[in-house]
Amino acid sequence: MIVKITVFGGAGFLGSHICDKLSEAGHAVTIVDLRPSPWLRDDQTMLIGDILDEATVERAVAGAEAVFNYAGIADIGEASNRPVDTARINVVGNVMILEACRKAGVRRYVFASSLYVYGKSGGFYRCSKQACELYIENYQAMHSLPYTILRYGSLYGPRSDRRNAIHRFVHEALSTGTITYYGAPTALREYVHVDDASTATLAVLAPEFENQNIIISGNQPMRVGDLFKMIGEILGKELKIRFQNDPNSGHYQITPYAFMPKVGRKLVPPLTVDLGQGILRVMEEEHRAMHPEMTSEGGYLVPTDD
Ligand SMILES: NC(=O)c1ccc[n+]([C@@H]2O[C@H](COP(=O)([O-])OP(=O)(O)OC[C@H]3O[C@@H](n4cnc5c(N)ncnc54)[C@H](O)[C@@H]3O)[C@@H](O)[C@H]2O)c1
Repeated sequence: MIVKITVFGGAGFLGSHICDKLSEAGHAVTIVDLRPSPWLRDDQTMLIGDILDEATVERAVAGAEAVFNYAGIADIGEASNRPVDTARINVVGNVMILEACRKAGVRRYVFASSLYVYGKSGGFYRCSKQACELYIENYQAMHSLPYTILRYGSLYGPRSDRRNAIHRFVHEALSTGTITYYGAPTALREYVHVDDASTATLAVLAPEFENQNIIISGNQPMRVGDLFKMIGEILGKELKIRFQNDPNSGHYQITPYAFMPKVGRKLVPPLTVDLGQGILRVMEEEHRAMHPEMTSEGGYLVPTDD
């Protein structure tokens, strides 16, 4: 069955991968974003617009059966530096989309939340995600708008930029041989490849995920110090690591969890991208970006012929 789906923020890192999966599954996808998607497919529709513009949001939502909200400020550091914009874009923008969905009788609202909603870290980014979750749950309670909230863990993979942790680590390792990390080597993360996360996202359109809060993260916790060793081993060089042990970075140490009343179910996706293989792909992509004068031939990098 073809479903008409509108994806706000579909030109971004996570949103664009989800749009690909939705289109591959045969859905009719409309992307709404401030910028044109560099990954727009022929079978997708692009609408340039702001989630804070009521007319744009209503037009984009009209006729959609499912609406995904992946737009907004996605970086903890940026949210810390731009608290008013974070409240406006993430929280008010979310409410504007919810209101349009209510009026249009949308059958499922899917929201990109974060594991940070559980804990005490994450600063204004967490504040915005917690507020969004409360609005979504209350739209369901007051107006019967069905939802699925997805709390993503640490994502990595193609199309990310240097705000993404693994992308930045790989870039620093390749360009300087040094990685600077705000926290301690013992910090634990469950990295999940964006391909696996977006495949899992597609699955939540099933009826059993209606009005559920779902966690999508990796299933193999890894210490950041071990991740750096892995990057060094893959590159075949000794990396210099600088741990800043900054308690005010806004990031968590061992677990994002502190007691919160609304607990989520963990959806464990069948992970197809192994962390080492995934990092290798990030390295290849980053190396290509840093050295456009080289091409890959039979697994070796050679200078591109003019
Ligand atoms: N990347 C991660 O590791 C991760 C983890 C947990 C949750 N999330 C959440 O997933 C969502 C997407 O994150 P991402 O990493 O793809 O970020 P991203 O910055 O790559 O994508 C966000 C997109 O939203 C668009 N946007 C921003 N403001 C807008 C506005 N006012 N109107 C319309 N479009 C606007 C941007 O142009 C961009 O294309 C965010 O809500 C983020 O909090 C991401």
